[in-house]
Amino acid sequence: MCGIVGYKGNKNAQEILTNGLSCLEYRGYDSSGIAYFINNKIKIEKAIGQIKNLKNKINYKEKSNLGIGHTRWATHGKVNLDNCHPHQVGKITLVHNGIIENYGEIKKKLQQFGYEFYGETDTEVACALIDYNYKKTSNMLKAIKKSINTFIGSYAFLILCSDECDKLYATRNNSPLIVALNNEETFLASDVPAILNYTNKYYLLDNKDIVKIDEKINFYDENLKQVTKKIKKYEIENINISKGKYKHYMLKEINEIDDVVRKTVAPFIIDENTFQSKFNFLSKFEKIEIVACGSAYHAGLIGKYLIEKYSDVNIDINIASEYRYKKHKFNCKTLVIIISQSGETADSLAALRIAKENNAKTLGIVNVYESSIAREADDVIYTQAGPEVAVATTKAYVSQVAIFSLIAMYFKSKNESIKNDLKDLKNLPEKIRNILNKDFQKFAKLIYKQNDVFFIGRQIDYALCMEGSLKLKEISYIHSEAYAAGELKHGSISLIDNNTVVIAINTDKDISLKTISNIKEVKSRGAYVIYLTNDKNIKEKFYDKLILIDNISPLVSPMLAIIPLQLISYYVANLKKCNIDKPKNLAKSVTVE
Ligand code: M6R
Repeated sequence: MCGIVGYKGNKNAQEILTNGLSCLEYRGYDSSGIAYFINNKIKIEKAIGQIKNLKNKINYKEKSNLGIGHTRWATHGKVNLDNCHPHQVGKITLVHNGIIENYGEIKKKLQQFGYEFYGETDTEVACALIDYNYKKTSNMLKAIKKSINTFIGSYAFLILCSDECDKLYATRNNSPLIVALNNEETFLASDVPAILNYTNKYYLLDNKDIVKIDEKINFYDENLKQVTKKIKKYEIENINISKGKYKHYMLKEINEIDDVVRKTVAPFIIDENTFQSKFNFLSKFEKIEIVACGSAYHAGLIGKYLIEKYSDVNIDINIASEYRYKKHKFNCKTLVIIISQSGETADSLAALRIAKENNAKTLGIVNVYESSIAREADDVIYTQAGPEVAVATTKAYVSQVAIFSLIAMYFKSKNESIKNDLKDLKNLPEKIRNILNKDFQKFAKLIYKQNDVFFIGRQIDYALCMEGSLKLKEISYIHSEAYAAGELKHGSISLIDNNTVVIAINTDKDISLKTISNIKEVKSRGAYVIYLTNDKNIKEKFYDKLILIDNISPLVSPMLAIIPLQLISYYVANLKKCNIDKPKNLAKSVTVE
């Protein structure tokens, strides 16, 4: 993860760097730092915690026009100032996003040459190696090239050399980096949001390209041959992102879900009865492999259940970090669907590349325009969730489920009418709004003092349980587990005793009675049951509290059922006074493997 920014131009570098870092804070917020030239010398400022702590330390009156900055999500070494970027060894100062896997080996060799290390990071070692190679070559381009030939891993580096106070160098391999320009100014950043206040024109770097920025921008390939690049233009308007009337981004984003669903499904529906056949290409595949991480994986799991019900296609669902290492059996009838809000998740991106190397067709379901997965997949469907700031995904998750709901409708429409499903989909935003207007704080009060919470359900309800459970633990730090309702009795039911909270989801009428039996099993062991269902005609009381949602098409219902779970998690975390938008140890975009 980590966010990096660089600047060379005629404005105040400290201001541009720290503002850029604020836009990239979603990538990590353990610590941050900047390095800039002032009177031909490099000055470094660092702070632990959020960017505002760094901003408080900086003297903005100093006149600097060139610098680099970093916001960290710790991978190697504790969160302390020694491990905080920028790192400086000898004449080299740099910031890094990625992981140098062979840093241990490099470190040992450099120690033999007399290098001593102050921290525990792979980045400090990378910095030392570039310094070592610079001492040998007295040429920055050669020193960088030699060093990247040694590095194994992923990186985006922004590099300063104390001998060259008017130059900025950069290189990347499997970590995102853009070079943006505006007249005489050059900006470098991990991601587009950091530069959108200044320009929307940028270059993309290929792996192992090296850039030297002096009076102009010079690109070199890995053999140091000078190359030219095409300018790209970011066409999406620079939306001013703010919390508005909400206390947290997460609450704001949950409240946008009705609109997000409307926007995401609109391009696929012609009218109440007609479904746009944009998914025709899916017919030629015999196997679909869905790959994703975290909540995107949970959305994919719902996709698997839905599509399997209405098609003969074989659907496989995979966690991206596992998928990479399994034995693959692709053929020309395999489609690999990668789901990712950010489009930058390292494991999902690696999975996409494996599929492509093996000639499988790939489809990205992505929220961020022009992100790596969006660019590299053969086809892309953009979810229309808009920028999602809270680390815990809510609206983007629902928009991913919406796409799978449409795909399942496409398969269903081949054999059956989907008129009622389309009607329910059309009315869904209004039903979501009704739920958003209900009070879920009362449920949060029942939970926030608990140490453990269990979620149980079957099939799609189980997939919803997984997402509900992840949301709760991620933002409220309450341990929770999602169980397939029938599985609990095979071991974990021993954890249920008086007042253990169990959230039971039961929205599938075909298996409803089975789930009810499982709820009775936990109830008879003392559990306090919060029951979420769409069944208005409950005959007996086997629960303690009820959450009733509308009974709508099973193809649409998951998007409704998840909202109470998102809101309960939010209010639990709020009661616990947690840092809801930036939970500890997490980052919005997970760009390390
Ligand atoms: O950007 P992506 O959708 O690829 O991210 C995948 C996961 O890291 C993400 O969904 C994560 O689980 C969320 N923080 C959950 O709220």
